[in-house]
Amino acid sequence: MKVLVATSKPFAKVAVDGIREVVEGAGFELVLLEKYTEKAALLAAVADVDAIIIRSDIIDDEVFDAAKQLKSVVRAGAGYDNVDLASATAHGVCVMNTPGQNANAVAELVFGLMVYAVRNFYNGTSGIELLGKKLGIHAFGNVGRNVARIAKGFGMEVYAYDAYCPKEVIEAAGVHAVDNVEEMYRTCQFISLHLPATDETKNSIGRKLVSLMPKGAVLVNSARKEIINEEELIQLMQERDDLKFVSDIAPAAAAKFEELFAGRYFATPKKMGAQTAEANINAGIAAANQIVGFIKEGCTKFMVNR
Ligand code: 3PG
Repeated sequence: MKVLVATSKPFAKVAVDGIREVVEGAGFELVLLEKYTEKAALLAAVADVDAIIIRSDIIDDEVFDAAKQLKSVVRAGAGYDNVDLASATAHGVCVMNTPGQNANAVAELVFGLMVYAVRNFYNGTSGIELLGKKLGIHAFGNVGRNVARIAKGFGMEVYAYDAYCPKEVIEAAGVHAVDNVEEMYRTCQFISLHLPATDETKNSIGRKLVSLMPKGAVLVNSARKEIINEEELIQLMQERDDLKFVSDIAPAAAAKFEELFAGRYFATPKKMGAQTAEANINAGIAAANQIVGFIKEGCTKFMVNR
């Protein structure tokens, strides 16, 4: 059995060492394709492997066609919008993710971005503090829950909305559960986005919601850029010079945001949320264990293409 780690944005070395230990410990062979820049390299590497561990790497129909022996793909992380699930199913491949394993890393970065924004991007002028401010968490999954936990340490008043999570679960975490999403945007000066990118959520964060936010609003996106309606956000930021936008990944219209909103906009050049040794170790080793469990025992926990 051959397991490929295909990561254009590589794991920390210590995580690769851990993955190797699990894979070789199970009697399988480990192959590495790190920092690749051409799809051709991926297509060549998948030709004879039984399983692949990836991060945001694009696994499309062409990759599945090229991977004749492939049985499983594990996305070491949460979002699997980079994998063509229909094609995986058609090719008889089990796709899994590793939910929660990098959630704390992403949640900590949210506060890095938030502090950076309210301290005016460290330009030397007086900013504001997070203590006592209202934070709205849009989607209460693994990252949202970690954001709530950390926000309490900052002394923020925490609200959350999740169309798929019962209010009781949100309240049990000591967070105000709002009746509807509009109410949360109307109430909270800070909004942190934790929605997956789906047909339902793409372009869903735009004028309708963000315009409701109170004066001095800060919108933080550590999810996928596709959930933002960039055209509407640009228009709104032109109309409202109190609105700040900080993002873990550059929006498609990054050049426009940079040109128009100096001092109110920041985006990481590469997605940084899960870029910690701990998150790499947690997600990478979980992925390796899930592959061993699937191949040896047929375990399909965390399968996402049922
Ligand atoms: C995820 O979906 O798990 C995060 O966005 C992290 O993605 P990455 O592993 O590509 O950094």
